[in-house]
Amino acid sequence: MADYYSLNKQELEKEFNDVSREYEHYRSMHLSLDMSRGKPSSDSMDVSQKMFDSVGNHIGFKNIDGIDCRNYGGLDGLVELKNLFAEILELKPEQIIVGGNSSLNMMFDTVAQAMTHGMGGEPWCKQEGLKFLCPVPGYDRHFAITEYFGLELIPVPSNEEGPDMDVVEELVKDEKVKGIWCVPKYSNPEGITYSDNVVKRMARLKPAAGDFRIFWDNAYVIHDLYDESDKLLNIYTECVKAGNPDLPIIFTSTSKITFPGAGVAAEAASPNNVALLKGRMKYQTIGPDKLNQLRHARIFKNAADVRAHMKKHADILRPKFEAVLEAFENQLGGTNIARWTKPRGGYFISLYVPNGCAKRVEELCANAGMILTSAGATYPYGVDPNDSNLRIAPSYPTIDELEKASSVLCLAVKYAVLEKLLSNL
Ligand SMILES: Cc1ncc(COP(=O)(O)O)c(C=O)c1O
Repeated sequence: MADYYSLNKQELEKEFNDVSREYEHYRSMHLSLDMSRGKPSSDSMDVSQKMFDSVGNHIGFKNIDGIDCRNYGGLDGLVELKNLFAEILELKPEQIIVGGNSSLNMMFDTVAQAMTHGMGGEPWCKQEGLKFLCPVPGYDRHFAITEYFGLELIPVPSNEEGPDMDVVEELVKDEKVKGIWCVPKYSNPEGITYSDNVVKRMARLKPAAGDFRIFWDNAYVIHDLYDESDKLLNIYTECVKAGNPDLPIIFTSTSKITFPGAGVAAEAASPNNVALLKGRMKYQTIGPDKLNQLRHARIFKNAADVRAHMKKHADILRPKFEAVLEAFENQLGGTNIARWTKPRGGYFISLYVPNGCAKRVEELCANAGMILTSAGATYPYGVDPNDSNLRIAPSYPTIDELEKASSVLCLAVKYAVLEKLLSNL
């Protein structure tokens, strides 16, 4: 396809007419498409249906320790799940706190506790002008947590290796900077995995704030689309080597393994951090939902079981990612007006359009019956200074819907850019 920047006025006008006609054709179809949130489809959830037969009257409610999971107790989770998460995260079982249904909830809670009771130092709420580092583009709900607690969000540029560590190393010299959000594997929304160099530099950080923490959200730790997995260095091991064991707090969950909203979440850290977190939990709860933990323990004996299960997910998700990427290649390739990431796992693709066009693309898609994640959502305060990034979530629609949605999206990108190019002539 022709490079849009090489077209003369006449050629641009002709292209705009063609694109408008096609766009109107889709608009007249009154579509109802959604590529906004990273939700699994019902096909993906069916993969875990066997979980509902794994606990019940016919099979009992006790775990391997003989704990009756119908009752109170077991503050930090069943041993089976500690072992499972430890294997997946390459940590020791005693480092794992198994929680409720949401890792985001554990992240919120950890920040809330840092605010009221500190992270081993003075409560954050007693300190003025605190800041949190937000690699961009990133996960809107992370940014929202720290914004909610009144921390100033500092964007950190990212590249194909992860956050720009030159920038991070400089920013952590400020003692007001208390932490950083990281999605180190198949990141949301880029789908990239942090390089060894980034993980090592992250582990070797020397923050001015003694209670600085890396919020290491390994949400997509085992969520490969292909047989060969991206390799992520173990942040905790690197931190120990660097003499910084207390730096990372690690999170994950089975939301995209079994059921979002009905999975099991985990938080993991150094012995010091685990003692601090568990010390507070006893005031918070008499124990998690062990029946749900037991359901998971019964279908996943070890990480190999989870990997085998994830292959079934990959067989559903991979064609969806490929349908979108193929449409981008066929419909935008060569135009020089868009670039996109090609993730090998996770839940998202990042699409970049020329500066100043992302919001217009979102609007054009909405007018044609297709919802995208709000342009800007991947940046602190919902503002992308370049108005360029769009997060694409291919997991929920069917392939047929994705093909239509991708065509609408590609047309919207072309439309928005042509409009701009023509208005600048
Ligand atoms: C990076 C990341 N972390 C956390 C979550 C939510 O996790 P949970 O369902 O465990 O709260 C998501 C959901 O999309 C995510 O993308």
